[in-house]
Amino acid sequence: MTPLYEGKSKRLWTTENPHTLRMEFKNDATAFNGQKKVSFENKGRFNNAISTLIYGLLEQRGVPTHFVRQIDDTNVEVKKVDILMVEVIVRNLSAGSYCKRTGIEEGRPFSRPIVEFSYKSDELGDPLINDDYIREMGLATADDLSFLRQSALKVNDILTEFFAKCGLKLVDFKLEFGRLLEDPSRIVLADEISPDGCRLWDLKTGEKMDKDRFRRDLGNVMEAYEEVLGRVKQNLL
Ligand code: TMP
Repeated sequence: MTPLYEGKSKRLWTTENPHTLRMEFKNDATAFNGQKKVSFENKGRFNNAISTLIYGLLEQRGVPTHFVRQIDDTNVEVKKVDILMVEVIVRNLSAGSYCKRTGIEEGRPFSRPIVEFSYKSDELGDPLINDDYIREMGLATADDLSFLRQSALKVNDILTEFFAKCGLKLVDFKLEFGRLLEDPSRIVLADEISPDGCRLWDLKTGEKMDKDRFRRDLGNVMEAYEEVLGRVKQNLL
């Protein structure tokens, strides 16, 4: 069997149900648009477990998602969607490309969360774009964009509160959305929510507990992911 689609950290497979897919979490980690690549034992398992628990929390709090059920350690069943080519990033504290772009030091809290959009294109390195670009490129309508912004801020509220209970500061994160194939008028949260696409800092020590450990060669990458999973489980199960 060949996958329907293979990305940097996941594979998508067909299922017997024409409306769903199997999403497999790989052990591969990439950074800097795939230039740096390592495989970590158990990464797929940790990210699947974290993402499944977080999606459960979001669904319970009224955020519609693609999630159907967990199949096993590294696979979930998800609804078929057409992924929007717009990635939505929410930032609560300065970090990463925000610091690079502005020259501002890491860790400065914002008065209000920043929502930004990037064009989902590996070829171009996911460049930052704005509402006008999105309109002219036909990536989403103005109504879609206001829905994406509103949903992302709601997810931020839910996850900021939840991760604080876990002793973690939600610094920033990236979301992807898709149009349900069954009903294209409905946009739902898709992809995964894991330490791959979030920055999480320990509230007491400030220690980085996310993919920045890999990006910056800080070591103990899977130890941090496992710790995040343990805390998420403790506060949800
Ligand atoms: P950035 O500061 O590098 O723009 O990243 C912002 C957030 O988005 C951070 O939590 C990591 C996440 N992210 C992804 O999920 N995928 C990506 O390709 C990049 C660049 C960032």
